[in-house]
Amino acid sequence: MDMVNILVVGSGGREHAICHAFSRSSAVSKILCANGNAGIADVAELVDIRPDDISALADLAEKRGIDITFVGGETSLALGIVDEFEKRGMRIVGASKAAARLEASKSFAKDFMRRHGIPTAAYRTANAPAEAIEILRSGEFGDENAPVVVKADGLAAGKGVVVAADRNEAEAAINELETLVGADAAASIVLEECLFGREVSLIMFCDGENYALMPPTRDHKRIGEGDTGPNTGGMGTITDDRLLSKEQTEEIVETVIEPTLKGCKEEGFPFKGILFLGLMMTDRGPKVLEYNVRFGDPETQSILVRLETDLVEICEAMIGGRLNEIEIKWKEGNSACVILASEGYPGKARTGDIINGLDDAAELSDVTIFHAGTGRNAEGGFVTAGGRVLGVTAVGDDLDNALTKAYEGVSNISWLGMKYRRDIGL
Ligand code: AMP
Ligand code: GLY
Repeated sequence: MDMVNILVVGSGGREHAICHAFSRSSAVSKILCANGNAGIADVAELVDIRPDDISALADLAEKRGIDITFVGGETSLALGIVDEFEKRGMRIVGASKAAARLEASKSFAKDFMRRHGIPTAAYRTANAPAEAIEILRSGEFGDENAPVVVKADGLAAGKGVVVAADRNEAEAAINELETLVGADAAASIVLEECLFGREVSLIMFCDGENYALMPPTRDHKRIGEGDTGPNTGGMGTITDDRLLSKEQTEEIVETVIEPTLKGCKEEGFPFKGILFLGLMMTDRGPKVLEYNVRFGDPETQSILVRLETDLVEICEAMIGGRLNEIEIKWKEGNSACVILASEGYPGKARTGDIINGLDDAAELSDVTIFHAGTGRNAEGGFVTAGGRVLGVTAVGDDLDNALTKAYEGVSNISWLGMKYRRDIGL
């Protein structure tokens, strides 16, 4: 492979894991990250451009001779970063603006699934809170005691979904949605039948024609142990091939993945980049909870530590439509990522606390620490700079082993108010 310069767009633990995977490549000469964080600075040169400043990012890539840009988050994709880079003749990994609607608009995604017969929860879209409440009161989603899911249509950084236990809770959620996520994201409201089952995330590389699955993952979204308390961006993940049997994977391929990719092509936006399926394994088969058009955070941390194939080779194949020609290898066994968060998260988090023990934790074998929200103080030490601060990630021969190593890493690290879940992977 020719040597390449890489630009990674984003600033969280996901982007640290992506930069780290590129840093292990034998084909990379330089990695830039916009705008990154203090931990990412160990593997990449940070550039202070925000993910929503598309033209500045494209200018940067031109000026610095970037060969491949890799986009971490949905904001840049929904704004059309891929379209802009391709218009300027530059190579980039990510979904086009049209494809990003699968994540950026829940009603678009639901209508897309309906058009292509892809299994998902029954739903209705309302264009105002009053209309949503009227639909509920009509009894379409069951009586006043039935659970129902209320979703803001637009991007809401994980805050736009409420699984309401009954109609009262659902109506309250509808009335509060706009305050919670802003008028734009709440301009339309999707109501959904409440599904029950086990959740699995399945993420894949796509090249517009072919796809390659990554190991299935499980995310722990609630702040509290035993899945209690408010939703967060994710408090920990595991990869575990046993999350899906061979038959279940085949069913997902047949009922979800193939019709999705075919539908994207038919509708004029062949899917290139990373496609993330949030699935509920119900007793009536797998159903799609959501599409994301990017890597998950913190799923990526636990996935990429198992990647053995050179990420540059995979990117070249995604861009060139040659995913079917390469074999992607994963380390056998399992992995786990435990998120260490600041006091107050997922509400207003306290920041600026000195982080102790990072060096000791980093010396443990099979443990990698990804920074999500860190900075440096005047003395050069790492301090907390966000709600989710670190993702302590480990690989192991089996799940127990991966979890034991990750928690051993955790036990070395401390700061005032640090919190984490002790039940990741259980
Ligand atoms: P989403 O962002 O659409 O994946 O929703 C966030 C979380 O809400 C999911 O991970 C599920 O735990 C839950 N959820 C979403 N839709 C449904 C549904 N139709 N039934 C039950 N739970 C749901
Ligand atoms: N961890 C879920 C997400 O990235 O959307």
